[in-house]
Amino acid sequence: MNENDLIEIKNLRVSFPLDEGTVQALDGIDLSIPKGKVIGIVGESGCGKSITARSILQIIPPPGKIDQGEILLRTKLGSMNDDEHIIDLAKLKPDSDLLRQIRWGEISMVFQEPMTSFSAYHSLGDQIMEALLMHKDVSKEEARQAAIEMLDRVGIPNAAVRLNQFPHEFSGGMRQRAMIGMALICNPSMLIADEPTTSLDVTIQAQMLDLMKDLRRDFGSSIMFITHNLGVIAQIADEVSIMYLGKIVEQGTTMDIFHDQKHPYTSSLVEAIPKISDARKKRLTTIRGSVPSPFERPSGCPFHNRCPKMMPGVCDVKVPTPIDFGNGHKAACLLYE
Ligand SMILES: Nc1ncnc2c1ncn2[C@@H]1O[C@H](COP(=O)(O)OP(=O)(O)O)[C@@H](O)[C@H]1O
Ligand SMILES: [Mg+2]
Repeated sequence: MNENDLIEIKNLRVSFPLDEGTVQALDGIDLSIPKGKVIGIVGESGCGKSITARSILQIIPPPGKIDQGEILLRTKLGSMNDDEHIIDLAKLKPDSDLLRQIRWGEISMVFQEPMTSFSAYHSLGDQIMEALLMHKDVSKEEARQAAIEMLDRVGIPNAAVRLNQFPHEFSGGMRQRAMIGMALICNPSMLIADEPTTSLDVTIQAQMLDLMKDLRRDFGSSIMFITHNLGVIAQIADEVSIMYLGKIVEQGTTMDIFHDQKHPYTSSLVEAIPKISDARKKRLTTIRGSVPSPFERPSGCPFHNRCPKMMPGVCDVKVPTPIDFGNGHKAACLLYE
């Protein structure tokens, strides 16, 4: 594991055995998350973004399971002498004490819908304080002060009063802010944001992205930012991984992905980003075809049946392996083999 990496995922395979057949949700994922960097994970719905994130914390919905692979985390938690060591999260039991400490304490996750994180029956302040009391050695009064400071930090006015209110008394945008505050209260090494801005209007989206960038700077946390919207990624990510049908088909710096992309799927996503000049056009560009059913994985390259550059007899037969274009830029496409 590279010493700058907080997490390294190696050949991760996750499947859902269902009555209708087995869904291969993740088909061999390799991904590194460097310390203090924002990593964007992009792809159409159903390609495995959420399952990648949920695997890290071992909160995969049943009957999904990790079949193979490693999820290495560099942490001080669980170490005898308080030194950093490397543990394989994939080997821990989902209900183990260590994994419980790691969730929120070391890696926290925010979801699209804040009510996934909050209970309707307790004040927002109690819930944020609870997260802190569970993971850190602080008194109730210290937890309260920290919660007020955090709400203030994420831009919730009048924090001391709002702390006593219930989640439904907050607007959608304010709830999102509070959720990010709760996710950061234990000062985690990594924040996973799973499509956190999709349901918000554009102004609030921009504010949320600014907020996350500030927090990354102030707390030095790594951020894994998941979205189906490549446009949002340009504003926040240092590096981007493009996913398709349970595989990473291209990864590189944000610059590589936007200006020197190699995989035709990445090109299609970039072309589908709405541009100001499109306002005059009648329709937005969309990617032709749709993601195949999870029960019918295409042979060869998973993207071949939608690919504008598909080479018959090659792409429908051979499974592409990632080609290295230098400086961490990789793409799995037979055009380059
Ligand atoms: N609870 C579940 N039961 C069965 N299959 C699931 C479940 N959750 C996800 N999957 C399957 O795993 C694949 C990846 O899903 P997911 O990671 O949620 O996609 P994304 O977040 O990129 O939209 C999909 O093919 C989906 O059908
Ligand atoms: Mg998802």
